[in-house]
Amino acid sequence: MKTLLIVHHTPSPSLRAMYEAVRAGAGTDEVEGVRVEARAALTASPVDVLAADGYLLGSPVNLGYLSGALKHFFDQVYYPCLDETARRPFGAYLHGNNDATGAVRALESITTGLRWRAVRPPLAITGEPGKADLESCWELGATVAAELGDV
Ligand SMILES: Cc1cc2nc3c(=O)[nH]c(=O)nc-3n(C[C@H](O)[C@H](O)[C@H](O)COP(=O)(O)O)c2cc1C
Repeated sequence: MKTLLIVHHTPSPSLRAMYEAVRAGAGTDEVEGVRVEARAALTASPVDVLAADGYLLGSPVNLGYLSGALKHFFDQVYYPCLDETARRPFGAYLHGNNDATGAVRALESITTGLRWRAVRPPLAITGEPGKADLESCWELGATVAAELGDV
């Protein structure tokens, strides 16, 4: 059994809707052999990251960057996980009101440093998430799960 860890900062209804869609996709019946775990970004530890086989990351865009919560997560896990988690697959979703560019760049920079493998480019949604956006979130979760499990 593989473990897919969702690390998320979810401070608003928009992000809650995205998180729930990602989590539902990650737990799709179409993929077997994957257990989904979720941790709020401010509580996730290096032990959680080492114990997982792949990752889904979620954050709002704040002040042109990742939320402090997700940045705190990376600050906590970076060196303890650097050697053992290289090449593990991940996906990410971001939500902003108007421009996610800086947060996407930051996420790519940090995950390049960790040598994590992007299953898809980060999914950046601005404004209120619509039906198509939430379907994209579901697809993101299902795609990373499929990378780990048996389809
Ligand atoms: C302090 C602060 C800074 C923010 N900075 C940005 C920003 O730089 N770019 C952006 O697109 N949205 C920004 N936002 C909006 C948040 O990304 C947005 O509130 C969050 O994703 C939740 O979405 P919602 O408020 O529509 O539910 C900011 C919000 C806060 C509270």
